[in-house]
Amino acid sequence: MIPRRRIEIEAADIGDFFAAPFLSHRRHRDVHVFEGALAAYLGCPQVRAVSSGRDALRVILAALELRPGDEIVIPAYTLGELVPFLQRDGYRPIAADVDSRSYNVTVDTVAAALTPRTRAILVLHAFGAPCDIVGIGELARTHAIPLIEDCAHALGATAGARKVGTFGRAGFFSFEVNKPVATFGGGIVATADAELARRIDGLIDRRPATEWPALRKAVFKMAEEMAVRSPLYGVAAALMFSERRSGAFERHYRRFHDRVRTQELAYSGFQARVGLRRLRRLDQRNAQMNAHWEELRRRLDGTPLVPQQRDRFGTPAFYNFAAAVPGALAPLRDAARRAGIDIAIRGEAMDDVAALLGQGGCPNAAALFGSLALLPLHGGVAPLRLDAMAQRLRTVLAAVR
Ligand SMILES: Cc1ncc(COP(=O)(O)O)c(C=O)c1O
Repeated sequence: MIPRRRIEIEAADIGDFFAAPFLSHRRHRDVHVFEGALAAYLGCPQVRAVSSGRDALRVILAALELRPGDEIVIPAYTLGELVPFLQRDGYRPIAADVDSRSYNVTVDTVAAALTPRTRAILVLHAFGAPCDIVGIGELARTHAIPLIEDCAHALGATAGARKVGTFGRAGFFSFEVNKPVATFGGGIVATADAELARRIDGLIDRRPATEWPALRKAVFKMAEEMAVRSPLYGVAAALMFSERRSGAFERHYRRFHDRVRTQELAYSGFQARVGLRRLRRLDQRNAQMNAHWEELRRRLDGTPLVPQQRDRFGTPAFYNFAAAVPGALAPLRDAARRAGIDIAIRGEAMDDVAALLGQGGCPNAAALFGSLALLPLHGGVAPLRLDAMAQRLRTVLAAVR
């Protein structure tokens, strides 16, 4: 079975794990070195490591002095958990529809969602493909509204000569376990605005510094990876991701995940050391993933599958292969699983946020939610298996039509 998600664990991570309790005195220095390496990588003067991508978003909004009741334009197709997360702080998310091919918001859809109460625009580079960040940046400047880039999927993607995450007032990245740089959770804020960075320092400087929550999460994630690699994973996936159970399973998985995630703590030295090692290989990894993506696209040419549009507004950093598939998704997922390929559909990929908000007017997000499949694309799918996977998918697609 080719699983939908693999957690990257290297031998050196295990060494870092066992060394961590003895290196806690180095936390400040190692986190600082990692932040500096990220700043150099992104070409962005200010980088701060925080507990998660969501935490990064929260501190950015607080540092921008948004108030309860303020509206934030967000993509209509993104991580659904962002909705209650923003609402908890009293903000009002307003969905902007996405383009049906790139899955990203556009200048027009963002413009249509603006109101006199809009205080921030949040854009996403979906699955690693850059949105029209230059055009949306101009729109935000014209309206004097801060633009925030959600780069949770896109560390290393570029638009023109610049890395995504450096176009708006601030960008944020996630270091969750399936992300381009994975440090068993965590995230960063990137900004060129020294005053904003100073305010963020005020919010995070006194956070408790402890290595244990990140180490505990690493234990859970290593156990999860062992389960995914076990020969029984196929049986477990059939039970977890059936039409009847997958919604409940995904909810439980995310809830459990929330319990083991590091929250409002100082980023740990262990995570910084793991992250620095991953960052050194990031460009090579991104190039390989993009090449695998292209290879899979080529091999699936002529099938009814319509892959996400790439290279429209820059060079992606793909870490997933997303495609729209006509017809019912559940039979496709079941047939793919029987053929040994674990694909994710509907809320297992991302969410129709406009529907979650009870807001109409975002038909593309609704259509995408009902037609998008995520095929496995990770370090565990080597080129030879890509070939086998594409062949099996061709058979599956022909059979379920
Ligand atoms: C689109 C998007 N935004 C934000 C986040 C938040 O990142 P984190 O899980 O580190 O809080 C994620 C995480 O999956 C995401 O997919």
